Amino acid sequence: MENIDWKNLPFAYKKTDFNVRSYFKNGEWGEILVSDSEFINMHMASTCLHYGQEIFEGLKAYSGMDGKIRLFRWEENAKRMINSARGILMQEVPVELFREAVFKAVRLNEKYVPPYGFGATLYIRPFLVGLGPEVGVKAAKEYLFVVFVTPVGPYFRDGFAPVDIMICRKFDRAAPRGTGSYKVGGNYAASLQSLKEAHMAGFGTTLYLDACEKKYIDEAGPANFFGIKGNTYVTPKSNSILPSITNMSLMQLAEDEGMKVERRLIPVEELSEFDEVGACGTAAVITPIRKIVDPDTNKIYEYGDKNEPGPVCKRLYQHLTAIQTGDIEDKFGWISYLE
Ligand code: PLP
Ligand code: COI
Repeated sequence: MENIDWKNLPFAYKKTDFNVRSYFKNGEWGEILVSDSEFINMHMASTCLHYGQEIFEGLKAYSGMDGKIRLFRWEENAKRMINSARGILMQEVPVELFREAVFKAVRLNEKYVPPYGFGATLYIRPFLVGLGPEVGVKAAKEYLFVVFVTPVGPYFRDGFAPVDIMICRKFDRAAPRGTGSYKVGGNYAASLQSLKEAHMAGFGTTLYLDACEKKYIDEAGPANFFGIKGNTYVTPKSNSILPSITNMSLMQLAEDEGMKVERRLIPVEELSEFDEVGACGTAAVITPIRKIVDPDTNKIYEYGDKNEPGPVCKRLYQHLTAIQTGDIEDKFGWISYLE
């Protein structure tokens, strides 16, 4: 076991011992190579450096009370990565290669998986880049797939505690028929200006509206958005947001708990009708939202008891994390054990 202060881990890069890599060359994927280097050697004219051919995924490994290490819904990340690759004409990473690389990266760094009960996890970051010299705008012929891991604490500093967020109209993250539904690096570059403004104004992240009409809610920084209205879980339907695996799981859990689930357009004004709202994602887990400020209309939407997550957010959070750590039975078949 590494000598790490698991309880106070930030969501930040921390070196581990190994990463794994596979190159796509001459029309085929090579064997999985193990590396102890944190660096990549690439041609300076690689398409990932000039034309944004970069996609990534994010998933986590969890320690259970039984000492076993569990991965949550990795197949969904593998499928989404294939979809992202198709979206920007990259070579797809086969599901089996994804699985082998992810499990190998975790196994090789097992001592960095935070123990049960500290609120920390091992974040797994698979990514794919286009390599090889191209100066004209075109897809690369060669690709590199890498998986590295890093132990992390909560994405939002205070963990499962409410945050304040700010509506952003000044910048768009993704266009309606653009790359918003793919996990491409460029979407995150496009979010940096608005994030900086939100952080400087003291907010945890930005709430994006649809880029076309600025009427409907899209997503909440690096996480999907949901609202609770009575016994209904409401989440945006949009083709410019990332289809979140956490959100997909919460919709199923909400239904399982007897709630109604609605995936539909959410007009900004409806924010005043929710009992609770939250952001959800692998990194964010469920982050309850305390206050949403709209700087253009000077409207402020506030939820619940100032510093306490609402009861539905709390229940869904407990339900989801109990499955992830194995505290309760995984009746949906979402868990894979590290062999
Ligand atoms: N939306 C964006 C823009 C994200 O980066 C993420 C994180 O992956 C999510 C939503 C949440 O997706 P998931 O629950 O699959 O991690
Ligand atoms: C994740 O939740 O896995 C994400 O990708 C968020 C990340 C951009 C920090």
